[in-house]
Amino acid sequence: MAYETVLVETRGAVTLITINRPKALNALSSVVLTELIEVFAAYDADSSQRCAVLTGSGDKAFAAGADIKEMVEKSPADFYAGDFFADWTSKITRVTRKPWIAAVNGFALGGGCELAMMADFILASDRAKFGQPEIKLGVAPGMGGSQRLTRAVGKAKAMEMCLTGRMMDAEEAERGGLVSRIVPHDQLLEDALKTAETIAAMPPLAAMMNKEMVNVAFETTLDTGILMERRMFQVLCGTEDKTEGMTAFVEKRPGNWTGR
Ligand code: HXC
Repeated sequence: MAYETVLVETRGAVTLITINRPKALNALSSVVLTELIEVFAAYDADSSQRCAVLTGSGDKAFAAGADIKEMVEKSPADFYAGDFFADWTSKITRVTRKPWIAAVNGFALGGGCELAMMADFILASDRAKFGQPEIKLGVAPGMGGSQRLTRAVGKAKAMEMCLTGRMMDAEEAERGGLVSRIVPHDQLLEDALKTAETIAAMPPLAAMMNKEMVNVAFETTLDTGILMERRMFQVLCGTEDKTEGMTAFVEKRPGNWTGR
């Protein structure tokens, strides 16, 4: 299916999703947001696809934020009546139960930073820049930035970034725990796709449950999280892939997964 603002390619079991508005630094217009929800839902529903990579087109930006030119004319009533961003913030993370990686190739600002933080993890180009500059526009993060950034880098850095609008470069983002790794700019996509292939080659139910387990850590107490982890582990022990994985280890051969 062709989209207006998003490119989608499959490479084996990996889906590559590219926000494609390079002239507007991949600003997240409502069309981009609607299309991304559709693309992620289609990825999740396609049993041949096991990991996705989201990146931005061009050399400069992952996404420079929500589309300011679209928002400038909107009234509070428009924002409230449409519950602006509600669909987006809940759907993208909840609809997508399978793993996906944000490959941040440049500016990830405002909604762009918030979008990257919805990913299971972020790989950053050495030219990546993260920020929540909404305060300079008279507003504040609206797609989870104040919450996810604070959980990722702690109160001091998150507060400073939200109050001053300053950007964090890739090194600082890695030090702060916002990104899992920094990759040289021209190798970012290749590295992200290779990382996604590694994940795609894992037993799929185990991949989904590993993702779910880690995400539970942000939603619950330690005791409840550990209990959920144990229960999920026990469920996985009932799968064909557990039998196959452990047998393959003993027989010194690669596992052959059925996803059951
Ligand atoms: C619409 C944008 C845009 C955005 C850039 N552009 N960011 N259009 N929305 N968020 C457009 C510019 O208008 C310009 O188009 C083109 O992209 C290139 O941008 P330049 O500014 O000329 O590039 P440069 O000088 O290199 O500066 C790059 C930049 C700057 C530092 C990233 O563009 C910038 O500050 N952008 C805004 C970042 C921001 O404030 N993001 C948060 C948005 S609010 P034209 O046609 O004019 O040449 C947000 C809110 C979320 O995300 C939740 C709210 C509820």
